[in-house]
Amino acid sequence: MLERTVQIVSNERDTDSYFRLVLRAPQIAPLIQPGQFAHVRVLPLKDALLRRPFSIFQVEGDTFSILYKTVGQGTGALARMNPGAELGVIAPLGHGFTVPKPGGETPLLVAGGYGMAAMYLLAQRSPQKGIVFVGGRRRVDILCEKEFQALGWDVRVTTEDGSHGEKGLVTRPLIEELQWKVPQRKVFACGPTPMLRAVGKIAEKFDVPAELSMDEHMCCGVGVCLTCVIPVRTGNGWEYQRTCTEGPVFDAEQIVWEATG
Ligand SMILES: Cc1cc2nc3c(=O)[nH]c(=O)nc-3n(C[C@H](O)[C@H](O)[C@H](O)COP(=O)(O)OP(=O)(O)OC[C@H]3O[C@@H](n4cnc5c(N)ncnc54)[C@H](O)[C@@H]3O)c2cc1C
Ligand code: FES
Repeated sequence: MLERTVQIVSNERDTDSYFRLVLRAPQIAPLIQPGQFAHVRVLPLKDALLRRPFSIFQVEGDTFSILYKTVGQGTGALARMNPGAELGVIAPLGHGFTVPKPGGETPLLVAGGYGMAAMYLLAQRSPQKGIVFVGGRRRVDILCEKEFQALGWDVRVTTEDGSHGEKGLVTRPLIEELQWKVPQRKVFACGPTPMLRAVGKIAEKFDVPAELSMDEHMCCGVGVCLTCVIPVRTGNGWEYQRTCTEGPVFDAEQIVWEATG
């Protein structure tokens, strides 16, 4: 993990309220593992001390990128920043996804909205190509479909309003696929908490291992403030663990959903 001031290479609108931000970070880029995140300090903000966490989307040479949705003050200010401007970054942070070994499990990726950002490096670095189930409310919430197709993955799209792909929730095609009971598969998911909870239950029902990247509010991002804890099963019961350090990725069977808020 390194703390650096880094320069914006580009910051362009993707669809609707989603932007792609490329940062030059030669010391950070080679360290990044799939599912890890960057904690970004938006320097022009008045409350610039509060960083915002974003999954690391792509790594290319001495740069890495994030794919973000504008939802509030921090992401709004970020969207107004231009190439050449500087940001404070701590990265790479967190415990990411377990990349399958050659000849190991075939991955089934499940992503909701900006959850797709956490999945790209995993798809790129997995020796086995699998299926990506991507869901969103509307067509504009379906991100980087073409990039996953270019990696040779089978991309299955669902939208809640039916404006792109199959109409409905992303979990439906996942259930249909798991009914084939193909051996040696593993589910990896990132998205809103209700989606993760549903994916965890589905994986359990079909007896398929799953890793979930949990989206919790974070403050310090480095394990000190305990804002981000979730209940996690241990040998004797359960304990609170920090999504910023022990996570954000956890085995689905570890998460004690009954004790979550
Ligand atoms: C590990 C991790 C990875 C993330 N990766 C991405 C990513 O790749 N792309 C992306 O766009 N966003 C990602 N997020 C969410 C992102 O951190 C928040 O959207 C951002 O901090 C909002 O900042 P803001 O100042 O614009 O919003 P604020 O003004 O702070 O809040 C605006 C709204 O966003 C909600 N919000 C704030 N934080 C979160 C959060 N963690 N999850 C859901 N809603 C939140 C608030 O409740 C509020 O309704 C990630 C979060 C975590 C914990
Ligand atoms: S965000 Fe502070 S401990 Fe996780």
